[in-house]
This record gives sequence, C-alpha cells and structure tokens, in this order.
Amino acid sequence: MKGIILSGGTATRLFPLTATTSKQLLPVYDRQMIFYPLNTLIKAGIKDILIIVAPEHSGQYLNLLGSIFEKYDIRIDFKVQKLPKGLAEAFVLGEEFIDKGNVAMILGDNIFEDDFSTDIKNFKSGGKIFAKKVPDPERYGVVKFDENNKAVEIVEKPENWISDYAIPGLYIFDNRVSDAAKNVTPSERGEKEITSLHNYYLEKGELEVSTFSGAWLDAGTFDTLLEAGNIVKEKEIYKKFDPIIDKAILEFNEELKAIAKKRLI
Ligand code: G1P
Repeated sequence: MKGIILSGGTATRLFPLTATTSKQLLPVYDRQMIFYPLNTLIKAGIKDILIIVAPEHSGQYLNLLGSIFEKYDIRIDFKVQKLPKGLAEAFVLGEEFIDKGNVAMILGDNIFEDDFSTDIKNFKSGGKIFAKKVPDPERYGVVKFDENNKAVEIVEKPENWISDYAIPGLYIFDNRVSDAAKNVTPSERGEKEITSLHNYYLEKGELEVSTFSGAWLDAGTFDTLLEAGNIVKEKEIYKKFDPIIDKAILEFNEELKAIAKKRLI
C-alpha cells in the first residue's frame, strides 16, 4: 500500500495566511496541519508517501519533510501540481508512484480523530471510502444509503438534499484508479471530481462505504482552523501520534536549535 497526500491549492478563503505559505503548513495546535494526514498513513504502516504540492510552496515542504523521516525508513516523494485540476487528478500524477500496488489518498487538510489503520491494512481491492453525518452536506461529496446500509448513490455537492452523509477526504483504491481517473470528464467547475471515481467503483459493485464516530475536521476557514486547534487540544489528539512522528519532530527541533545556537556564536 502506498500513500498520497494532496496538499496543493491556493486556499483563498484563508488569505492573508495563505499568501505566504500553504494551507497545510499552517499550525494546528503544536504542529503543521500536514502532520495529521501523515500520521493517518504512517500509523497504518505505509512507508512510501507522495505529497502533491503547489509549485510556490514546494521549497517549504522540502525544508520540513525532505529528510525528517529518513532514519525511520519512510520515503517521502514530492510532485508539483501546477494548476489544481481536481482531486482525481492526484491518481494521474501519481500513476508511476502507485505502480502495481493499492493506494490510500488523504487530503492534506483533513484531520481525523479515529485510527484507520485496520481499514488500510485489510484493504484488498476495489474502493473503500468513509461517511459521516454532517449538518451541511451540500458542501461535500455525499453518499446515500438504502435500508440495508448499502451505498446506492454518490453526488458531489448535491443541490437537492439526498442524504446527510458526507464523504471525508480519505480514499483507498486499487491500482485501476489511475486509468479510471484519466477517463474522468471534468465537472462544470472544470475539475476531475473524486466522486466520479467513487461512482466508477460503485457501479462495479466494488465500493465499500463505512461510517465512523470520531471527529473529522477540515480546516478551510478561520473558524474551522481555530476550531481544529482547539479540538486537537481538548481531545488530546496531539498525544495520539505515531511515536515515529513525535520522535522525528523532536529531532528536527533539536537540529534547528543547534543551528540557531551556532549562528549566535
Ligand atoms: C472535496 C471533495 C468532496 C469531499 C471533500 C472532503 O471537496 O470534492 O467530495 O467530500 O473534499 O473534504 P472540496 O474541498 O474540493 O470542495
């Protein structure tokens, strides 16, 4: 299983914060947002991770993550996405990287309280996505279940209500996903929608959709960014990181401190 984190985009709703850095490098309590999706993948034992970034932020990602996990045998690759063309495009950009394996893709701004290691480790083939009840389903990709809890319909940002279950940004697919993504026709907003890929597997009867109970945060506005930090602190989510991440951050900090000290001498 390989991992992809989609961390591009301009996040204009967060200007001026995102005028100088990427949204996913903004702080959520005691660490950059990107460490949360990294944790979801690393906890599940994934060793190969591709981070897709916008060109203007690639240097900052490299400075933070270029070597931080080296001694833990976790390989981080980067790919530059010049223009955001939709979430499904990640599987086209990542085709060579995914190669013959399966892939777990997570959005760089999605923070989960729950541990999805078992779902990721037990995945065999087809597609696996998740669903959570929200008060504002029109903002998301939405899934409708029948009376037997079987997914029957998936729509991106439905204008007319179909269900309260939003699909968060964690997707597990087999390697047919890259070809499927190439064949997706862009939507009216000019993007290859991830929901087209959900529908590709749903139509084949190979899509599993599971609900979950823990917190799901996407820090897209000032309020939700602040809320994310507060929830991470209150629920002590920052204490539930994989030890590899905590150790790597600690070492990174020590290294920076040593350099800072040398500069002062
Ligand atoms: C994207 C997806 C949507 C998903 C959401 C989760 O929406 O298109 O299906 O529910 O992420 O955060 P966007 O953030 O691009 O509006």
